[in-house]
Amino acid sequence: MGIIIKSDREITIMRQAGRIVATVLEMLTKQVRPGMKTKELDAIAARELERLGAKSSSKGYHGFPANLCISVNDEIVHGIPGERILEEGDIVSLDLTASFNGFQGDAAVTVGVGEISPQAKELLGTTEGALKAGIATAYPGARLGDISAAIQNHAESRGYSVVREYTGHGIGREMHEEPQIANFGLPGTGPVLKKGMTLALEPMVNIGDWHTRLADDHWTVLTADGSLSAHFEHTIALTDAEPEVLTIV
Ligand code: MF3
Ligand code: CO
Ligand code: CO
Repeated sequence: MGIIIKSDREITIMRQAGRIVATVLEMLTKQVRPGMKTKELDAIAARELERLGAKSSSKGYHGFPANLCISVNDEIVHGIPGERILEEGDIVSLDLTASFNGFQGDAAVTVGVGEISPQAKELLGTTEGALKAGIATAYPGARLGDISAAIQNHAESRGYSVVREYTGHGIGREMHEEPQIANFGLPGTGPVLKKGMTLALEPMVNIGDWHTRLADDHWTVLTADGSLSAHFEHTIALTDAEPEVLTIV
């Protein structure tokens, strides 16, 4: 077991999977508007994945009932699309994992519904910034803890907290491979990074503290204090040069 190094040929397929995930996420993002039900976004995801020859990896995963995770406001991750109606000012995390030709792509964005508060905008910017800070440390020879620490420092230095009970992960033929990638940690610790590693980095950042609670549906993870939370995720491949973001169009 351990961390699985991918060949160039395998990364070529992961690039295709990643592009599909990014394409569908971009489409979903454009459809988000006040008054729509979150299950309408799920239906669009199902339709577009099929059109592109890919398959949702979430549907049926440990019994998860939908094609993607949709988490609103104080929901952090793993929200189930359904009858909830999006309202002006909400923030919505869309987290999509799909497989194509045997390989997975996994990405998430958090977007505003209509006009959102300055506080919400700042949270989104900081969380996306934390993801970029993590990606910027992902070079061969660095350590896994360098990624974790970069994400944590980016968020905490701006007064936010990072969720501790859920992590990023290796990704490849499986949605979740080794290693787990915490969004907090110490630089210079953990496994040494190598070319060919493919990782899903996914900071979850709260305005309040980092504690979570689980909803009665046993899936939706919320902030314990009811504060807003945002989530951004990319699948990346480590190269000798800059890390390659696979989940882009
Ligand atoms: N996309 C999630 C991740 O980032 C996992 C999906 S959980 C599922 O790891 F239950 F929806 F599959
Ligand atoms: Co994801
Ligand atoms: Co993930």
